[in-house]
Amino acid sequence: MKILGIDIGGTGIKGAPVELPSGEILAEHLHLPTPQPATPGAVTAAIKKMIQHFQFSGPVGAGFPGVMRKGVVETAVNLSPSWVGKNAEKLFKHGTKLSFSVINDADAAGLAEMTYGAGKKERGTVVMITLGTGIGSAVFIGGVLVPNTEFGHLTMRGKDAETIASAKAREVNDWSWKKWSKRVREYLHLVDRLINPDLIIVGGGVSQRAEKWLPRASKGVKAKVVPAKLHNEAGIVGAAMAGAKGG
Ligand code: BGC
Repeated sequence: MKILGIDIGGTGIKGAPVELPSGEILAEHLHLPTPQPATPGAVTAAIKKMIQHFQFSGPVGAGFPGVMRKGVVETAVNLSPSWVGKNAEKLFKHGTKLSFSVINDADAAGLAEMTYGAGKKERGTVVMITLGTGIGSAVFIGGVLVPNTEFGHLTMRGKDAETIASAKAREVNDWSWKKWSKRVREYLHLVDRLINPDLIIVGGGVSQRAEKWLPRASKGVKAKVVPAKLHNEAGIVGAAMAGAKGG
């Protein structure tokens, strides 16, 4: 079964056709910059472009950077606020004439890691944390997803944690890996104390360079901490998995 997986982020929109159940990415992914402002109309236009690029016709799954309930956007901190209350699934469906299923982006990445990556066969409490424009989270208990956890917005140093520990925060502030990793460490300790997971999987583009910062960032964390195996592609593969379930 071939599904188009699309990972909608605050900075980029990435997509590729994925074969399921193997989880294999069938073509080099396409990366489009997220339109600014990222309004529903502008994001739908980018998604249309993505579908045209792959000349795709079939079911599509998308990961969206906000709380998603039955296709409806409840929060969209890193996109245009005009998304709130919109039915993303319906909007994309009407715009493309294809069937769509939309879930939270970090939940999508977590699903892929639990099936094909670092969380495979893990049956305890697993937390996936994605470090990108924002911080996303996905929680699995006995392999079952608890959706929309939003640990990126925990309070740390009196602030929204993603504003100090996301990958974007490192870039914006021009912090060294060392300086940033101390903030990530504080954040991972916070998550560790909150839910006491058995495993924390850290993903996002920065997981590709985990050796630069993860050993320091995971120091003293009780849970086992590992980088994502699918790195930044977890979001695409997980979105495709959601797409396979229909919309
Ligand atoms: C959003 C989450 C999302 C994360 C990563 C946060 O700002 O609230 O829903 O998963 O960014 O994109």
